[in-house]
Amino acid sequence: MVNYKDLGLVNSRELFKKAVSGGYAIPAFNFNNMEQMQAIIQACVETSSPVILQVSSGARKYANQTLLRYMAQGAVEYAKELGKNIPIVLHLDHGDTLELCKNCIEYGFSSVMIDGSHHEYNKNVDITSSVVEYAHKHDVTVEGELGVLAGVEDEVSALDHTYTKPEEVEDFVKKTGVDSLAISIGTSHGAFKFKPGQDPKIRLDILSEIEKRIPGFAIVLHGSSSVPQDLVKMINDNGGKLSDAIGIPEEQLRLAAKSAVCKINIDSDGRLAMTAGIRKYFNDNPAEFDPRKYLGPARDMLKELYKHKVINVLGSNDKI
Ligand code: G3H
Ligand code: 13P
Ligand code: ZN
Repeated sequence: MVNYKDLGLVNSRELFKKAVSGGYAIPAFNFNNMEQMQAIIQACVETSSPVILQVSSGARKYANQTLLRYMAQGAVEYAKELGKNIPIVLHLDHGDTLELCKNCIEYGFSSVMIDGSHHEYNKNVDITSSVVEYAHKHDVTVEGELGVLAGVEDEVSALDHTYTKPEEVEDFVKKTGVDSLAISIGTSHGAFKFKPGQDPKIRLDILSEIEKRIPGFAIVLHGSSSVPQDLVKMINDNGGKLSDAIGIPEEQLRLAAKSAVCKINIDSDGRLAMTAGIRKYFNDNPAEFDPRKYLGPARDMLKELYKHKVINVLGSNDKI
């Protein structure tokens, strides 16, 4: 058993408390390789932002659980070396079983999500409560979810949103003891969140109804990539084929971050930035084959994207 505190990591409790009262959100950026991790840490050190390093079960399989634990520990030391001891959380994204959550906690995670949103309500309460009971013994924070996002979440996919029912949130939070709650208000995973011609809006009215029921409680938004059109264009101009990729407008996320939303999950935008950087480099330098030559510029693009998110969308800069 590795204790996250020995790795220099923190859980999310204090970060969320400050974020809710300060009207900003903590970035939760997914990672599964060294360049992504470096870009996240560089961006958050340069902007003085706390950060949640987020790992899906797919990412764990891809990168290896032991390597990821050392990478998180390395991230803490790397941030210090860059000059700032920023708070860093290592979080499991979309955990689906108690066993997986336990295993992550044993490998040094300071926070876990148990996503029981696809189960019927009582089963979601049961599975979430069992994770909370184990996690809290180790001072690990837990995120639950109510409502189903449209799109694909690991192996599970839904065609339509099932919006979170505001009348359920108080009971769920009380019965399970979760530290934060992910809700469904029209965001979705991936790069194709709306069809062309649709109004790309999220249901801020449901968010404010939820906030009234559980004032001051930490709310989480998944599926919050904005799918920057300059990145989509760069991909397509350099041999890619992404059509009709549309995300959540950043102004709407900014409004959400100013309210009870204190964690915003961004993965797809990072994937787009890296892909755009690599595609452009390959197109401009077809004879190059040293991975550092194309991964380096892609990492710089990723860092710029993260800095932009922190400063202009989440508002978590200068909050350490
Ligand atoms: O919510 C999903 C995240 O973007 C992680 O995606 O399961 O492909 O690693 P993944
Ligand atoms: P995006 O696909 O919109 O980046 O969402 C990521 C996410 O919610 C990870 O849990
Ligand atoms: Zn998600």
